[in-house]
Amino acid sequence: MDLQPSKLPSSPHDPPLTAIVIGAGLGGCAAAIALHHHGHRVLCVLDKVRQFGRLGDSLGLGDNAFSLLEKWDCNVSDIKNIGNQAPDMSIRRWKDGKVLAVQPLMDMAGYIGHRGDYHDVFLKWVDQRGIPVRMDSEVVAYEDTEPQPSITLKSGEKLSADVIVAADGIKSLARPLVLNMQDDPVSSGYACFRAFFKPDQSMKEDPACNKYLGRDCVNFWIGPDMHLVQNTLRGGEEFNWIITHKDDGDVPESWFQPGDMEEVRRLVGDLDPDIREIVKKTEKCLDWKICYREPLPTWVSPGGHRIVLLGDSCHAHLPTSAQGASQAVESAGVLATCLDLIKGKEEVKIATRCYEKLRFGRTRQSQTNGEDLRDRWHGVLKGADEEREIDPEDVKIKNRWLYSFDAEEDARTRWKSIRGVVEHEFLTGKINPLC
Ligand SMILES: Cc1cc2nc3c(=O)[nH]c(=O)nc-3n(C[C@H](O)[C@H](O)[C@H](O)COP(=O)(O)OP(=O)(O)OC[C@H]3O[C@@H](n4cnc5c(N)ncnc54)[C@H](O)[C@@H]3O)c2cc1C
Ligand SMILES: *[C@@H]1O[C@H](CO)[C@@H](O)[C@H](O)[C@H]1NC(C)=O
Repeated sequence: MDLQPSKLPSSPHDPPLTAIVIGAGLGGCAAAIALHHHGHRVLCVLDKVRQFGRLGDSLGLGDNAFSLLEKWDCNVSDIKNIGNQAPDMSIRRWKDGKVLAVQPLMDMAGYIGHRGDYHDVFLKWVDQRGIPVRMDSEVVAYEDTEPQPSITLKSGEKLSADVIVAADGIKSLARPLVLNMQDDPVSSGYACFRAFFKPDQSMKEDPACNKYLGRDCVNFWIGPDMHLVQNTLRGGEEFNWIITHKDDGDVPESWFQPGDMEEVRRLVGDLDPDIREIVKKTEKCLDWKICYREPLPTWVSPGGHRIVLLGDSCHAHLPTSAQGASQAVESAGVLATCLDLIKGKEEVKIATRCYEKLRFGRTRQSQTNGEDLRDRWHGVLKGADEEREIDPEDVKIKNRWLYSFDAEEDARTRWKSIRGVVEHEFLTGKINPLC
């Protein structure tokens, strides 16, 4: 799909609105694709890194994201084909692997794949639309002054557009700079050890290690205050485990902090032997502190209301939500839709204020859904009589209600009433905080 300028989607505005997106992660890519699809002109997507690596491990995308991406003419088979193809996942007891519940994989994350692989597909979709992605372009300052909001790159270069979208991740610089807020990571009280590797021949042949190799499968082992996620990708060629445990140390918030395999081996001492051996034989892992941020009272720049946050920068999720990327996609659709519904450039501030109001409640629900699951998993076997029967409903993942939701449709349906609220706020000069 090679879109010539003449074939750009037609804009609801004349002249079309222009946008700059900061951060070319999944959220920033989704924002660029959605804005483009709706006829807004994305001048560029900026990312501070020189080059993307195959970073992270398992990431899920749900149907709520796929249906929007499909509407935006993305070929979602590109993602579905590289995601885990297992129909079901099992939730098991920590100590012996006894199955407590079995659910369709679609109930959790839809298609679980490698974050890096999914990211490559999103970048390809951006590229197919002729939207430039500029690497090695770190944004160091934001300004929302007349006539247009602008950003400054580390090189000193200044760029401006009608609307600026900061999709710069959980460690967002836009959050303190745009919102003038102090930025304190909040520890969730948990950390993860995570490993992703290609099992070698000896592991594949070792009956103590290979029970979950050789095919796509997803299993969870749950126990008091801990759980382990196992995900096998590419027909068993790649293996991922993630152990979530109480965080007593002071691990920095980083995607690259090496984990202590000795501590991992201690943690899995009483784990189901069928999964324990492959964990014990793993060479290395990452130590990833699960931080989140308190819900923000606003996602929009206070001065001109034309710089907005999107994705992890304003609604990061716990891993047990399995919705971080999907909610970023929803936010992209809602922002693009709000920008359609205004009269023109001078109303961008109405679009951004409606966007945050439309999105806040939904993202909170999806965030707390992940907290609820973690607490149920970590609590259900606590102090319980070892052999007590567990009601499968108590440990099942309850994400399905999140999927049958069309975020753009919801935005259009509620637009009139939300717009009324926002106009009233501008009139009275008092913008109510989101929380
Ligand atoms: C390295 C990494 C590994 C991850 N691994 C997993 C995983 O295994 N499983 C999972 O579920 N989720 C993972 N995530 C989170 C997941 O990608 C997000 O929840 C989801 O994709 C939505 O993210 P986002 O696009 O809002 O932010 P991110 O994916 O964090 O992307 C933000 C982007 O902004 C760029 N950026 C930041 N600051 C600036 C700046 N000042 N100027 C220019 N660019 C900037 C960053 O380089 C990055 O590319 C990971 C994220 C990262 C960054
Ligand atoms: C979508 O991609 C798949 C492969 O990922 C391909 O088989 C299919 O033909 C593509 N569909 C379209 C409409 O391009």
